[in-house]
Amino acid sequence: MKDILERLEGARAQARLGGGERRIRAQHERGKLTARERIALLLDEGSFEEFDMYVQHRCADFGMQDNKIPGDGVITGYGTINGRAVFVFSKDFTVFGGSLSEAHAQKMIKIQDMALKMRAPIIGLFDAGGARIQEGVAALAGYGEVFARNVKASGVIPQISVIMGPCAGGDVYSPAMTDFIFMVRDTSYMFVTGPDVVKTVTNETVTSEELGGASVHTTKSSVADGAFDNDVEAMLQIRRLVDFLPANNIDGPPEWESFDEPERLEHSLDTLVPDNPNKPYDMKELILKVVDEGDFLEIQESYAKNIITGFARIEGRTVGIVANQPMVLAGVLDSDASRKAARFVRFCDAFSIPLVTFVDVPGFLPGTAQEYGGLIKHGAKLLFAFTQATVPMVTVITRKAYGGAYVVMASKHIGGDVNYAWPSAQIAVMGAKGAVEIIFRQDADDPDKLAARTKEYEDRFMSPFAAAERGYIDEVIMPHSTRRRIAKALAMLRSKEVDEPWRKHDNLPL
Ligand code: HXC
Repeated sequence: MKDILERLEGARAQARLGGGERRIRAQHERGKLTARERIALLLDEGSFEEFDMYVQHRCADFGMQDNKIPGDGVITGYGTINGRAVFVFSKDFTVFGGSLSEAHAQKMIKIQDMALKMRAPIIGLFDAGGARIQEGVAALAGYGEVFARNVKASGVIPQISVIMGPCAGGDVYSPAMTDFIFMVRDTSYMFVTGPDVVKTVTNETVTSEELGGASVHTTKSSVADGAFDNDVEAMLQIRRLVDFLPANNIDGPPEWESFDEPERLEHSLDTLVPDNPNKPYDMKELILKVVDEGDFLEIQESYAKNIITGFARIEGRTVGIVANQPMVLAGVLDSDASRKAARFVRFCDAFSIPLVTFVDVPGFLPGTAQEYGGLIKHGAKLLFAFTQATVPMVTVITRKAYGGAYVVMASKHIGGDVNYAWPSAQIAVMGAKGAVEIIFRQDADDPDKLAARTKEYEDRFMSPFAAAERGYIDEVIMPHSTRRRIAKALAMLRSKEVDEPWRKHDNLPL
C-alpha cells in the first residue's frame, strides 16, 4: 500500500509541475502567475477540489505521441468564494501554450456541464493559444462543444472570463460568449488572429498590445469589461465581483450583512446639482453616497464614460446601477453608451438583479457619425432592454430628461416601477432654447419676444411637475432622502412578478 500511495503522490507531483520548472520560471519572468497559483488566489483557502489531473491528449501526429503532459494544459475543478460554490478552469500556458486539444476540451466540458447542473457560476482563467495546431479538426470540434455550452448556460449561470496571457482563436471566442471579460494590463492580449497573420494578410505592422491589449479592449472595442494591474489584483477583484452576483437565474442576488443604515440621509446631495443647467457635476458622487458603504463595482469603466454601469448594494442586496454621467459629453446617449448600458441591463434582468437608474440626459447625440454608425439600432437596444426587463426598476431623474432619451432611461412608460424626480429635474421634449427656436420661428427676429417665450417654456416644462401632474413621476423627492426612498421602493418591489406571453425568444435589434 505504501508503494501505491507513493506512486500516487509522484503522479500528482508530476501533474502539478505542468510544463516543467523552466516554463514555470518563464511564466514568472513575464510577470504572470501559474494556472495553479491563480486558482489558489481566486478560491477560499484549501477549498479547491481538482478533477482530471491525469488526463492526457490522444494525438499521435507530428511527434505528439511521445510528448504527453498530465493535465493537458488546463486545470479544472470546483471550490468556494467567500463560502459560495463556483466552478473553475485555468489554462496552463506552460503546457503546449495552454492550447486546446480534444482531451483538454473534454475537461472543460465536464466542468461546464457540472456548473450548469449545479446552477453555480463558472470562471475561466485564460492564458492560451487557441486550438492545438497538431490536432487539427479534433481541436476545432472541441471548441465547438465548449461554445455550445457557453450558449446553453447563458442567462442561467454567470460565466466570467479572465484573460491573463496572450489569447487567440477559440480562447477569445469562448470568452466572448460569457457575461464578463476582464484582462490583465501589459501581460494579456486578445485577438482572433495574431500580429504575424495580420502582417501576412493585410500587410499591417502591429504589436500585440496595439492589436489586442487591455487598453484597446477596455477603451476602443469594448470587448473587455475591465482591466487590472496584475494577476493578484485580478483574482481579488473577481472574488469581489462574485460576491455581487447571484449563483444562477433563480436564486436571486446574495444577501450580505450591511452596516449602512437604509434611512441614512445625505444632505450634501441637496447641493450636488449646480444652478447653471449647463454645468456638469459628477454622477458617481451621487452613486457612492446612496449605495451601501459607498461600495460600487463599475463595469466598462473606461468605455463610453457618458454612461455609468455597475454593481452596488442597498440593504445588503445587489442592485445594478445605470446612470448618465454629465461630466462626459454632458451625459448624452450615443451608440456606444446605448450598447454598453443595454448589455448591462440585460445581464441584470436575466439574473434577477433590480435596476436603479439615475437620469441626467440631454438626449441622443446628433450627427452623421452617429447616424451612419447606426445610432437608431444601438439606441433601440437600450430601449428594448429596459422595456423587456421584469426586475424591480427604480428611477431617479436628477436634472435633464429630454426627448427620446427620457423615455429610454427606464421611464414609467416602458416599465419603471417607482419613478422619482429631484426638484431640479427638467422633463421635456428638449431644452427651452431649442424648443422655442422651433415652435416660435416667426419670432426669431424679436429677441424680447423670444426671451418671453423661452421663459414661458421654462416655467411650464423645465421642472418635474408637468410629468408629476400626469403621474409619470410618482413623487418629487428631496435629494438628501434619495437612499431612503430607493431602499423603501426596493423593499416594496421584492415580490414583483410579471407574466410574459410565451415566445421562442425576442428579436432584439442587434
Ligand atoms: C500548439 C501551441 C499553440 C497552439 C502556442 N503553442 N500556441 N502549441 N497549438 N495553438 C506552444 C508553442 O509551440 C510553444 O511551445 C508554447 O506554446 C508557447 O508559445 P510561444 O509562441 O513561445 O509563446 P508566445 O511568444 O508568448 O506567443 C503566444 C501566442 C503564439 C501568441 C499564443 O504562440 C501563437 O500565436 N500561437 C498560435 C495561435 C493560433 O493561431 N492558434 C490557433 C487559432 S485557431 P514550446 O514547446 O516552444 O514551449 C482556433 C480555432 C478555434 O483557435 C475556433 C474559433 C472560432
